[in-house]
Amino acid sequence: INIWQFQEDLLTWYDKNKRELPWREDSDPYKVWVSEIMLQQTKVDTVIPYFERFIRKFPSPYELAAASQEEVLKMWEGLGYYSRAKNLHEAVKEVVEKYDGNVPDDAEKLGTLKGVGPYTKGAILSIAFNKPEPAIDGNVLRVFSRLFKVEDDISKGPVKKRIESYVKELISEEDPSSFNQAIMDLGATICTPKSPQCLLCPVNKHCLGFEEGVQEQLPVKKKA
Ligand code: ADE
Repeated sequence: INIWQFQEDLLTWYDKNKRELPWREDSDPYKVWVSEIMLQQTKVDTVIPYFERFIRKFPSPYELAAASQEEVLKMWEGLGYYSRAKNLHEAVKEVVEKYDGNVPDDAEKLGTLKGVGPYTKGAILSIAFNKPEPAIDGNVLRVFSRLFKVEDDISKGPVKKRIESYVKELISEEDPSSFNQAIMDLGATICTPKSPQCLLCPVNKHCLGFEEGVQEQLPVKKKA
């Protein structure tokens, strides 16, 4: 892959086609954090109204930290996976106590917060702080397994590591925030699990899976 050409093709497409989403209106790290937690097990369309109500009720870490768990859970009702809300609440209280309400911009500090795993950490660092960190979820694994024709089982640790190293090689140093969000949008709208729309894909000329016609067989995942 020609890295420069790939970035240009991807970012030009994103600039023209990015989805307008409420958490993209600014890069407030708190809002990025809330959105990424909601989006982990829930679809974008479902998250939108919940995110808007949640931020209206708790516009900053201070309001969230001051709320009771009951109030927080009430705003989460219907989204499911309530441990997400409990962990977020605990972690935001810690951010208020330890960091004056400023979400840390450092991987080590972020990683110690409840509910902030490698994906969320990478998403906050890249989207809110524009640091060139991968944010690897299932969509990113799918897109990259096709781009690089990875035919090994992506549920295996070393295979994930290999994909992570591809992302690190390709990620834009200029605009990591748009790069990661462009991959997310590509995975959601074009490089879908079934019947990917390869003819519409802005990076199809870089895609080994497409070149060899195996995109629909990828990624390989062991049956649970
Ligand atoms: N899925 C997970 N994070 C996302 C984001 N920031 N934008 C769109 N879809 C996402």
